[in-house]
Amino acid sequence: MDLNFTEEQLAVKEAAREFAEFELLPGVIERDEKEIFPAEQVKKMGEMGFLGMMVSPEYGGGGMDTVSYVLAMEEICKVDASCGVVMSVNNSLVCWGLEKYGTEEQKQKYLVPLAKGEVIGAFCLSEPEAGSDATHQRTTAEDKGDYYLLNGTKNWITNGNSASIYIVYAQTDKEKRHHGINAFIVEKDMPGFVIGKKEKKLGIRGSDTHSLMFTDVKVPKENRIGEDGFGFKLAMGVLNGGRIGIAAQALGIATGAFELALKYSKERKAFGVEISKHQAIAFKLSDMATAIEASRLLILQAANLKDDKKDFTKASAMAKLFASQTAMDVTIEAIQIHGGYGYVQEYHVERMMRDAKITQIYEGTSEIQKIVISRDLLK
Ligand code: CAA
Repeated sequence: MDLNFTEEQLAVKEAAREFAEFELLPGVIERDEKEIFPAEQVKKMGEMGFLGMMVSPEYGGGGMDTVSYVLAMEEICKVDASCGVVMSVNNSLVCWGLEKYGTEEQKQKYLVPLAKGEVIGAFCLSEPEAGSDATHQRTTAEDKGDYYLLNGTKNWITNGNSASIYIVYAQTDKEKRHHGINAFIVEKDMPGFVIGKKEKKLGIRGSDTHSLMFTDVKVPKENRIGEDGFGFKLAMGVLNGGRIGIAAQALGIATGAFELALKYSKERKAFGVEISKHQAIAFKLSDMATAIEASRLLILQAANLKDDKKDFTKASAMAKLFASQTAMDVTIEAIQIHGGYGYVQEYHVERMMRDAKITQIYEGTSEIQKIVISRDLLK
């Protein structure tokens, strides 16, 4: 694996770093406290090309590789993980699958505005009774000839109200189990589609998470993605890539908290010296930095495999499993290093700890990542 970044990759990272510092840092505490969706910031991310980074320029995207995407994700999430998840879902779970498996008409109509960031998308797989157990979809899509009739409820949908385009998974043929699941492109204003309540969350409180209800929604046949019954394969495929993005989000949160803790430890004095001079603190910093570096390598390995068009299923699951645990461990230690200051809003690390937790849950819990890894090892 080549660990030397190209000039383009470094330029993308620098652009994301500057954007995060100047556009995301101001107001990040208020957006978290008041659960404000970062509409203005997301619009700017779209203008800068951060919402369709890997989409080919032919469809309005940046034509970049996965390595550039994870470098940008890390920088954005160092400062604001709520903006990071909007970016991750749009890039990995919505645009990537549409470009790879959508028809030319679907790409022109939906992918182009999504990749340009003119609108954002949502990925709708989870249900009240189907989170980890995603093959058991209760939402149904009855084949009515030239349209499907969609009925059911989706839960915990990121970009739930802010999206305009929704990729919805539903069971068409129950007998065929997961081979009878389809994925559909649903527009926000289709009759019978209702946005449910906004969830009040522990972390990533700037992002809007909703339940969605579908009652007899007529989805045109041309809005199905792929062949009949391809839906579950699509979901698993995009999640494999999405997990690299969430791992990068976790890395960004961990790095952001680490940098704050390192800086603070060199300024704060206790017992006559800077606290970094106490071995108790220095050893914490060593452990944090080591886990962060290991996460980064796992993420780059997964991104490189994906860019080289090799199997990255196990690598992305390992990257997410390790980086999300690292984000949790590092943010907790960052609070500990800050002492009482770490427990209050102004120092950012308490928010980062709350934001870190979700990286162990969404796009497949840590336990699901272990299923994916062990099945690959034992196959
Ligand atoms: N990549 C590719 N294919 C995979 C796969 C993977 N990682 N994992 C499973 N599959 C395939 C299997 O090969 C199998 O296909 P075939 O039958 O054609 O061989 C099919 O999927 C079903 O797999 P299993 O028979 O192993 O079914 P299972 O029920 O035992 O396990 C599961 C399936 C792996 C647990 C799957 O349900 C899963 O990944 N669950 C987690 C779902 C998830 O990640 N949800 C995230 C929600 S989206 C989100 O969080 C977005 C957000 O808001 C940010």
